[in-house]
Amino acid sequence: MKAEFWHDRWEQNRIGFHDDAVNAHLQQFWDRLHVPPHATVFVPLCGKSRDMWWLHSLGYHVLGVELSPIAAESFFTENHLSPTTSRQGPFLRWEATGLTILQGDYFALRPEDVSHCEAVFDRASLIALPPDMRMTYVEQFHRLFATGLDLLLLTLEYDQSIASGPPFAVFDSELSDHYGQNYRIDLLKTADVSDELPSLRKRGVTAIEEKVYQLTSRS
Ligand SMILES: C[S@@+](CC[C@H](N)C(=O)[O-])C[C@H]1O[C@@H](n2cnc3c(N)ncnc32)[C@H](O)[C@@H]1O
Repeated sequence: MKAEFWHDRWEQNRIGFHDDAVNAHLQQFWDRLHVPPHATVFVPLCGKSRDMWWLHSLGYHVLGVELSPIAAESFFTENHLSPTTSRQGPFLRWEATGLTILQGDYFALRPEDVSHCEAVFDRASLIALPPDMRMTYVEQFHRLFATGLDLLLLTLEYDQSIASGPPFAVFDSELSDHYGQNYRIDLLKTADVSDELPSLRKRGVTAIEEKVYQLTSRS
């Protein structure tokens, strides 16, 4: 999944993954992580997600990373914010009142870019990537957060032989392979979302489950 793929999606406004509503699982389960007030929450591959706004409304600082300049600009415009922009290494840093998006490549992040983050919300990041990139994504994740932090992470499960992603299916076993050594993995919820993903249904997938996990650092 090359950067061009995502840039094209944003340029053509083919962003079916974007939800104008705040994620219901985030609202239901975020408290479980006991993230201290004013902490910074990292939102990888953030798009222009309203979830960042919701986290900010609770008093958190938010740091997103996102390839697309269209997504970054839209996030601030649509939330009536006037961001400043500055360079941060290879990134363009968009920032307004505790909401920051590093516009650029997640794989170019350095540990010092995210060292102040205390928790992660991952919706549609891991599942946005094909298997080989997921491996690299997780390796980079462990490099960035070598001392560990807690995550709320959402996945999808469906028969990947019927349709290819994105969104990709990520099963429990893969999650254990990626995170099990460093994190305790608790499944918080399984939801039948078979009727909620028209892009997969059009490709013949009839059974889709969404899973919500809490990952707690063992360190
Ligand atoms: C499926 S969307 C999910 C967006 C967001 N998490 C949400 O819930 O709406 C994946 C996003 O990741 C971005 N993206 C893909 N690869 C990336 C990378 N290597 N670095 C930063 N962003 C990336 C895409 O531009 C896209 O906005």
